[in-house]
Amino acid sequence: MKVTVVGAGNVGATCANVVAHKELANEVVLVDIKEGLAEGKALDMWETSPINLYDTRITGSTNDYSKTANSDVVVITSGLPRKPGMSRDDLIATNAGIVKSVTENIIKHSPNSKIIIVSNPLDVMTYCAYLTAKIDSSRVFGMAGILDTARYRSFIAEELNTSPKDIQAVLMGGHGDTMVPLPRYTTVAGIPVTELIGEKRLDEIVERTKKGGGELVNLMGTSAWYAPGAAAAQMVEAIVRDQKRIFPVCALLNGEYGMENIYLGVPVVLGKEGIEKIIELDLNSDERKLLDESATAVREVMAVLDGMDL
Ligand code: NAI
Ligand code: 2OP
Repeated sequence: MKVTVVGAGNVGATCANVVAHKELANEVVLVDIKEGLAEGKALDMWETSPINLYDTRITGSTNDYSKTANSDVVVITSGLPRKPGMSRDDLIATNAGIVKSVTENIIKHSPNSKIIIVSNPLDVMTYCAYLTAKIDSSRVFGMAGILDTARYRSFIAEELNTSPKDIQAVLMGGHGDTMVPLPRYTTVAGIPVTELIGEKRLDEIVERTKKGGGELVNLMGTSAWYAPGAAAAQMVEAIVRDQKRIFPVCALLNGEYGMENIYLGVPVVLGKEGIEKIIELDLNSDERKLLDESATAVREVMAVLDGMDL
């Protein structure tokens, strides 16, 4: 297996490191536009292999996509991160150009790869990559839901003083403040979370989850990377090991949830073919309303992309 990670910044380097540590591939190629950055980080990671006892070969390249040829999975993290005061959507003008050119290079050298987008604004960058790649949408999708549910699950574990391993949850919608955590589908070792946490406190946890990215931007002056990198690597794992995991993933909807031609976070089955199935939940009217509002917010950013002369 060969995995390429484009963008050797905070998220990309973290993702490559997790993929190597877990030996999810024989070969990991890290690519960045900044001279020497990918080579340097790849070398530094490779030098941890005798300590951490893995044999995944990690190499880096400055913009030479021939090194990425025939990758099975590609993770695209290249682009500007959020700074305090910026929303994810503010990044669109710069990041759309980057995602488009990177996707063109990837498709040229790895036409059969599965492509995972991480760059923000996530839902619209995934749509941009899909339009550029011109391949089936089962092979182009975005990482956000695993991160957002991980935040939600970690907050619930903290609240209950239980292991995060026992918290199961699903979350839908766009990767923004309109995301839709679903308490009705959240359990703690099979026990509905609503039996363990009161409505008011649960609402506070949901609100904190929606603003989870911003909380970290305010603390660090840039956006998060440990959880985002680990979340992208978990998607790589599901694909390369054909695990058929059920994850919330940013997927193209064509009729599902009554929506057409929009990338939005929904539960899917992720395996060696990429998105193997989109799962349609029977949402109640309140949940449905929130999902529709989230879709409207994503469509507003899609309109900005459509108006750009890329
Ligand atoms: P970073 O600034 O640390 O890394 C980005 C890297 O992309 C830089 O090293 C830069 O040189 C590189 N780059 C820029 N243009 C490039 C090009 N044309 N080709 C190759 N490399 C290029 O940023 P960080 O923190 O790693 O974030 C990356 C992206 O991921 C941002 O857009 C951020 O908003 C997004 N993000 C998304 C999350 C999600 O849940 N989907 C979570 C966290 C971050
Ligand atoms: C995050 O959620 C900003 O999308 C980035 O951490």
